[in-house]
Amino acid sequence: MKKIVIFASGGGSNAQAIINHFAESATVAITKVYCNKQEAGVLGIAAKANIPTIVFTKQEMESGLVEASLATEMPDLIVLAGFLLKIPSAIVQRFSGKIVNIHPALLPKYGGKGMHGMHVHEAVVAAKEEFSGITIHYVNEHYDEGAPLLQSTYKLVKEETAHSLAANVLKLEHFYFPRVIEFLMR
Ligand code: GRF
Repeated sequence: MKKIVIFASGGGSNAQAIINHFAESATVAITKVYCNKQEAGVLGIAAKANIPTIVFTKQEMESGLVEASLATEMPDLIVLAGFLLKIPSAIVQRFSGKIVNIHPALLPKYGGKGMHGMHVHEAVVAAKEEFSGITIHYVNEHYDEGAPLLQSTYKLVKEETAHSLAANVLKLEHFYFPRVIEFLMR
């Protein structure tokens, strides 16, 4: 059985899509959800799916608590699905090539520190971009700079707003992220 753990900080709609995708899988299991926010929606999603969770602070992650948990868990893949903290380099090194992230824009544009959630879509709309989309990529020591695994492009409509763009890009995330993970776990 291949083991996946999910890191998330917020609502967890990507985590839900991934959990649903592998619900009947005989070869892949989501064994833990890691979260840095006590009241994050993703914790309720994990509980409903009977997936154990671990909640930690930024300080606890930086003090090695999360790395110790991962050393026991030994996942085949670490999936960042709306996780807003930088992964400590000790974890990036220990799990090199086994950490993936999804970014709601066509990196390298609209990436880097602070570029998350609605900030991304507001910047894309303000810049009157013709296209946006998603980037699923390996995670390295620098925000959003790891090798790309998949990009999918969305053509903005004339009257696009940051909110409508967010909703359209989220649909691409929910479709492609589970399938890229499935390919990596083949
Ligand atoms: C998504 O927009 C994703 O691209 C970004 O954070 C958001 C997570 O949303 N990394 P959710 O918590 O999965 O609903």
